[in-house]
Amino acid sequence: MIQRKLIVGNWKMNPATLEDARRIARKTRTAAAQLVQTDVVICPPSIFAAALISKKNTPNFNLGAQTASFEESGSHTGQISAAMLKNIGMTHVIVGHSEERAAGDTDEMISRRIRAVLEAGLTPVVCVGEKSRDNEGGAHFEFLKDQIRNTFANISEKYAREIVLAYEPVWAIGAKEAMSPEQIYEMSLFVKKVFGDVFGQASAMKVPVVYGGSVTFRNAADIIAIGQVDGLLVGRESVNVTGFVELLKVVDTAKADGVN
Ligand code: PGA
Repeated sequence: MIQRKLIVGNWKMNPATLEDARRIARKTRTAAAQLVQTDVVICPPSIFAAALISKKNTPNFNLGAQTASFEESGSHTGQISAAMLKNIGMTHVIVGHSEERAAGDTDEMISRRIRAVLEAGLTPVVCVGEKSRDNEGGAHFEFLKDQIRNTFANISEKYAREIVLAYEPVWAIGAKEAMSPEQIYEMSLFVKKVFGDVFGQASAMKVPVVYGGSVTFRNAADIIAIGQVDGLLVGRESVNVTGFVELLKVVDTAKADGVN
C-alpha cells in the first residue's frame, strides 16, 4: 500500500494582505488537485482563514490553524477556540511550534492545547525539537525525550492515532540549510520510539512523522526519500507559491528509496 504524504504549510504572520493570501491559497489548491499521493494543509493567519475556505471540493487540500486556545469559550480576550476553527471548516492545528514555545508556552500548556484540539475533533500537528545538537554527549536526545514525554503526558491513549508528530530541530528553522536527510532519518526514528514509550509501540508504528526546518523545493525530495519521513512542515517556502507548487510536485513523485 502506498503511504500518503502530508505537506503542511505554516504561513506564520504572512502574507500582509487578504488579496495575496487568496492568490497563494488558490494556486496551492490548484496544484494539490493534481497530486496522486500527497495531502496538503495550509495554515494561514486565522484572520484570513474563513475567506480561504473554498466551495470547490479538493479532498486532499485542507486548512489548518497555527495554534488554538486551550480554553473552550468565554472571557479570553484575543483567543480562538479549537471548536471555532473546526466550525469554519479547518481540519488541522499546529501546536507547540518553537516560536510559540519561545513566547512562553510550556510543555504543560501545549499539552492542554493538544487536548482541546483533539476534543474538538481536529488533528494536532505537534511540534517537537531540540534547540541545539550536542554531537559529543548526545544531550539533545535527553532533551527531546523529556519534551515529548511532558508534551503528551496528559493525553489519553485513545487519541494516539489522531496525532501528527512534527520533528523540527529549532536550530534548522528559518536557517540557511535543513538538517541532513540522514540525520532526519535517525531523529525521526528516535521521536517515534519516544512516542511509543508514551502511547505504546503499536501507536508508534502508525504515527506520521513530518520534518520541518528550512525545507525548500530543492531539498524536499531527498528529505522524503532518504529521511523517510511521512511529510514536511514548511515555513517560508509555503508562502513562496512558485517554490511551494514545485515542492508539492517533487514530493508527490519522490520514492522512499533515495531515487526521485
Ligand atoms: P522554515 O520554517 O521552513 O521557514 O524554516 C519552518 C517552521 O517554522 O515550521
